[in-house]
Amino acid sequence: MTAMQFLAMATVFSQQPAVKLPAAPKLDYTFFKDRVQPILLKKRQGHARCVTCHEHGSPPLQPLSLGASTWTEEQSRKNFDIWKQFVIPGNPAKSQLLRHPLAFEAGGDHFHAGGKHWQSQDDPEYQTLTEWVRGTASPTSTNSIRVLQSNAAGDDIHLIDPNTNQVVGKIEGIEVPHGLVISPDGRRVYVTNESMVTLDVVDSKTLKVFKQIKLSGRPNNVAVKNDGSQVYVGIREGSGAVDVIDTTSLTNVKRIPVKGPIHNVYVTPDGKFAVAGSIQESTISVIDCATNTLSWTLTLSSGIRPMVFIPNSDSSTKYIITQLSDFHGFAVVDFAARKEILRITLPDPKGQEKETQGIQGSPSHGLAITPDGKILWATSKWYGYVAAYSLPDYKLLEVVPVGSHPEWLTIPPDGKNLYVAIAGHDAVVVVDNKTLKVVKTIPVGSVPKRNTSGMLLTQ
Ligand code: HEC
Repeated sequence: MTAMQFLAMATVFSQQPAVKLPAAPKLDYTFFKDRVQPILLKKRQGHARCVTCHEHGSPPLQPLSLGASTWTEEQSRKNFDIWKQFVIPGNPAKSQLLRHPLAFEAGGDHFHAGGKHWQSQDDPEYQTLTEWVRGTASPTSTNSIRVLQSNAAGDDIHLIDPNTNQVVGKIEGIEVPHGLVISPDGRRVYVTNESMVTLDVVDSKTLKVFKQIKLSGRPNNVAVKNDGSQVYVGIREGSGAVDVIDTTSLTNVKRIPVKGPIHNVYVTPDGKFAVAGSIQESTISVIDCATNTLSWTLTLSSGIRPMVFIPNSDSSTKYIITQLSDFHGFAVVDFAARKEILRITLPDPKGQEKETQGIQGSPSHGLAITPDGKILWATSKWYGYVAAYSLPDYKLLEVVPVGSHPEWLTIPPDGKNLYVAIAGHDAVVVVDNKTLKVVKTIPVGSVPKRNTSGMLLTQ
C-alpha cells in the first residue's frame, strides 16, 4: 500500500462515527470490601458513622456482630449486592452513594438525613469511592494475599498463597528473622533481624531487603501503625524499650523506655496505642501512639507472652488476651479498667504425656481471633494441639492435634483458615475455621515461629 492509499484509508476510517460507547465497568467486590467498607465504618469528627444509621435503615448495612470491628465475608457480599444498586458504574457524578453525603456546593444533592460527610470532591474518601465506581480492581483481587512464615533457626521467610496453600516465594538472607509485619499498603515487609540488630525493610515486589535500620538493642517482635506511618520494635536487650521507626524517612526516630526488656509489641485495632509485653518484669506497657509516650502499665503474675485484642463496636480496645510464662492457658485484661478479669486454663488430654523439652517457659504460646470475632485459637506446646474457644463466652469448642511445638498463629483476612507454625516439624499446618479440622501440612524452613498474613503488592 502506498502512503497516499494509506492516508486515504485512514481518512475513511476516521470519518466513521463513534457509535460504540465503552461498556460500563464491572464493580469490583474486593475493592468494595477492602476500600469502600472501611469508609462506611469510619468515625468522622462531628458526624455519626454510616454504619450506625444504615444498620437499621435503608440502604441497609448488615448489623455487625458483637465485638466485630468489620463484616464477615458473607455479610460483605450482602452489603456489596445492596450498595452496588446505589451507584451507576462509570458515572460517579450520578451515583447516589457519592452524591448523597457530598456537600451541595461541591456537586452533591440537596439533603441527606445522614448529613454531608465530604465538603469537596477532592476528599480522599470521595476519591476512593470514585475509583470503585469507575471499576478499579483491588490489588487483592489478583490473589496477592499471603501468609508469611519466618523460620527462627533459619535465614529465610516462606510466602504461602492461601488460595492454593502452596509456597510461592521466599525472602532470603535474613539470619534469625524474628518478628515480621506487612505494611498496610502491602508494599513492604518489616522484619526484625536479631543477628544484625536492625529492622530490615523488604520490597514486596522483589522480596529483597533494600534498607537496614539500626536499632537501640537486640530486637524481638514488631508492629506497624494502622496508617503505616510508624513501626514499633520491641527491644529485648538492656533495660527495655520500644524503638519508633518513621516509615517515610526510614529512620529510627525515638527510643521509648519501658519497664523491662520487651518481647512482643502490638498496635491496638483502633491504631491508638502500642502495647508492649515484658517477660522478665511481667508488665504490659501501653504507649500512646499520638505522643509516643508511655500512658499506663499493668503488672500480672508472670511473664507477658503473645497477646490479641478484642475491640468494642467503635473499635476502641475492650480486652487484651494474653498468654503468660509457665501458664497453660490465657488471661483476659479489661483495657478500660486496667485489670485482669479472667483466666482460662487449657485442657489436659487424658492419658497424653506432657512435652517438657524446649518449652522455654511458655506452655501456651500463640493466639489468634477469626475476623468475625467468634473464635479464639490458642496453642498448647505441652500437648501439640490448638484449642478453639467461642467468643465472647470462652467455651471450649474443639481441641485439634497439630504436631510438636505449635507456635504462632495467623488468620488471613478472609477468615477461612488458621495457619499454625509447627516449630518441631518445620511445617505450617492449616486448620479450617468452619470444620475445625486440619486440611493441609505445608513444609517450610528451620524451626518456624513468627508468622503474619495480609495483602502483599506482589506486582
Ligand atoms: C444519622 C444517620 C445517617 C448517617 C450517619 C448516614 N446516613 Fe445515609 N441515610 C440516612 C437516612 C435516614 C436515609 C434516607 C433518607 C435520605 O435519603 O436522606 C439515608 C439515605 C442514604 C442513601 C440512599 C440515597 C437514595 O437515593 O435513596 C445513601 C446512598 C446513603 N444514605 C449513604 C450514606 C453514606 C455513604 C453514609 C456515610 C458517609 C451515610 N449514608 C450516613 C441516614 C444516615
